[in-house]
Amino acid sequence: MIFTVAVDGPAAAGKGTISKALAARFGLAHLDTGLLYRAVGAKGGDAVAAARGLEPADLARGDLRSLEAGAAASRVAAIPEVRAALVAFQRDFARREGGAVLDGRDIGTVICPEAEVKLFVTASPEVRAHRRGLEVGGDAAQVLAEVKERDARDMNRADAPLKPAPDAVLLDTSDLSVEAAVAQAAALIESRLQGA
Ligand code: CDP
Repeated sequence: MIFTVAVDGPAAAGKGTISKALAARFGLAHLDTGLLYRAVGAKGGDAVAAARGLEPADLARGDLRSLEAGAAASRVAAIPEVRAALVAFQRDFARREGGAVLDGRDIGTVICPEAEVKLFVTASPEVRAHRRGLEVGGDAAQVLAEVKERDARDMNRADAPLKPAPDAVLLDTSDLSVEAAVAQAAALIESRLQGA
């Protein structure tokens, strides 16, 4: 079975949590594509060379979830050659046998426009900053500023900007529990699997 679930959206909207839960529930492989950009940003030096030479060990670093790693990721993610170096791996993952869930910014628009299910997960900036603050700690105002700055950079870049695919289903998680958000996403997948 080839079946791709594309989960896109802004920083800390709940993409990762929802994607992991969906992958477990439907037995799909999961790829957090943000980790690729975080690893490239964290390597330092020439970002294009880092992207071309990315290795599994780079993704296992313990410091990739920090606010600084997120900011560095969104800077290198605006470089077209960095994005180009990471496309083939993501496309192959998306169309692997057995099905896959990928979360990121451009999965439904660029990496896998043919995805069977496309979700665009959002929440208000304040809710997202609160959730990220619980994860990484730090001053709430600073976390909110970082989230907003990163969203602006991701939405305004020329190459693969953050935006919903025209056929994406919007899921606003501002007032939803994790369970409720996953249930809505799972219902969508069920209906597409039945139609497939
Ligand atoms: O977890 P969070 O949503 O905060 O961030 P992430 O998904 O780990 O992504 C970190 C950064 O990588 C984003 O701000 C984007 O600039 C970049 N990214 C991207 O450009 N394209 C993707 N498919 C995934 C991430």
